[in-house]
Amino acid sequence: MSQNNLPAQFKAMAVTRFGAPEVLQQITLDMPTISSGEILIKTLAASINPIDYKTRAGLGWAAAQNENNLPFVLGYDCFGEVVGVVDENSPFTVGDKVVAAVGFPLQAGAYGEYVVAHGEDAVKVEANQANEISALPVAGLTAAQGLFEFGQLQANETVLISGAAGAVGYLAVQLALDAGANVIAVANCKDHPLLTKLGNVKLIDYNNLDEFNRLDEVDLWFDLIGGDQALAQLKRVNVVKRLVTVPTITAQAVNDAAVAKGAQAQGMLISPNVEILRNLVAMVENGKLKLNIAKYMNFKLAALAHQQLETGEIKGKVVLEFND
Ligand SMILES: NC(=O)c1ccc[n+]([C@@H]2O[C@H](COP(=O)([O-])OP(=O)(O)OC[C@H]3O[C@@H](n4cnc5c(N)ncnc54)[C@H](OP(=O)(O)O)[C@@H]3O)[C@@H](O)[C@H]2O)c1
Repeated sequence: MSQNNLPAQFKAMAVTRFGAPEVLQQITLDMPTISSGEILIKTLAASINPIDYKTRAGLGWAAAQNENNLPFVLGYDCFGEVVGVVDENSPFTVGDKVVAAVGFPLQAGAYGEYVVAHGEDAVKVEANQANEISALPVAGLTAAQGLFEFGQLQANETVLISGAAGAVGYLAVQLALDAGANVIAVANCKDHPLLTKLGNVKLIDYNNLDEFNRLDEVDLWFDLIGGDQALAQLKRVNVVKRLVTVPTITAQAVNDAAVAKGAQAQGMLISPNVEILRNLVAMVENGKLKLNIAKYMNFKLAALAHQQLETGEIKGKVVLEFND
């Protein structure tokens, strides 16, 4: 293996048992050896996704699959520097800066100072790339796959994005505008100025359900909120042709309501796709796709970050940084 001088051990923030944020604790792990097809990354930044705190709490598929695998290091979104490559013909060399969707959904590991990634889950980025890029993989793949693979969004169609100011929604609004769609963005009115800056979007305040009554026809409803709130919004609109609902726990109920209105409806789960990730990285590097970071915190404060996200004290994307 080609690698820099690496320590024998490293620190990571791991779920020691399922529960409240304080179950996220610092552990020490032995430096892994990598196999063919893998790269070893020294993590510079990792971002937090809602699936992280759901898994930490013991909810969902990733938690169920890992209940006998604790402590479990969270984190799918990784930005870092390649420090180990095993294949002679690898497209990566030691020193490359990469962004990766690590081990989605069952393995994870980006809350660690070092993480193993499959080479096909990683994309090289510019050498001067900043830590904010760690906010891209899961949210970006969800936005792109939801709109274009599951939702089949076409230019000139009308797409309603509910949860438009969140991590996925903020990217989805930009991708839909870039694709030539007409965008209706549903968000808290306090977030409307943020969304207005992205381009020509029609805004709806989610606190005022009556605003949904003035909508005519929606080609694609991209639901990022799920549950009763999604159902309350959906029932106000006359014609919805297609719906993609992203939160998995309430997908069945939202799908049923959409189908009852005559829509084609489906839930979704992202799958790693390096081509899509490469395109998204290029858009960020060309200034065509903006990331919205709420807060940067040291990775050792991961439990505090989870607590602040879950109580709503922080809204949006948190980037964990690994500079001591
Ligand atoms: N299936 C998959 O593969 C997959 C992948 C990624 C994410 N997800 C899921 O997708 C969901 C969104 O993820 P995210 O990272 O974008 O979450 P997020 O950053 O927490 O964003 C959620 C957004 O929804 C807004 N919101 C709350 N109530 C609303 C309402 N009634 N109408 C419209 N907007 C409302 C929030 O606004 P406030 O700040 O005002 O509350 C926030 O801006 C999560 O449930 C996540 O677990 C699933």
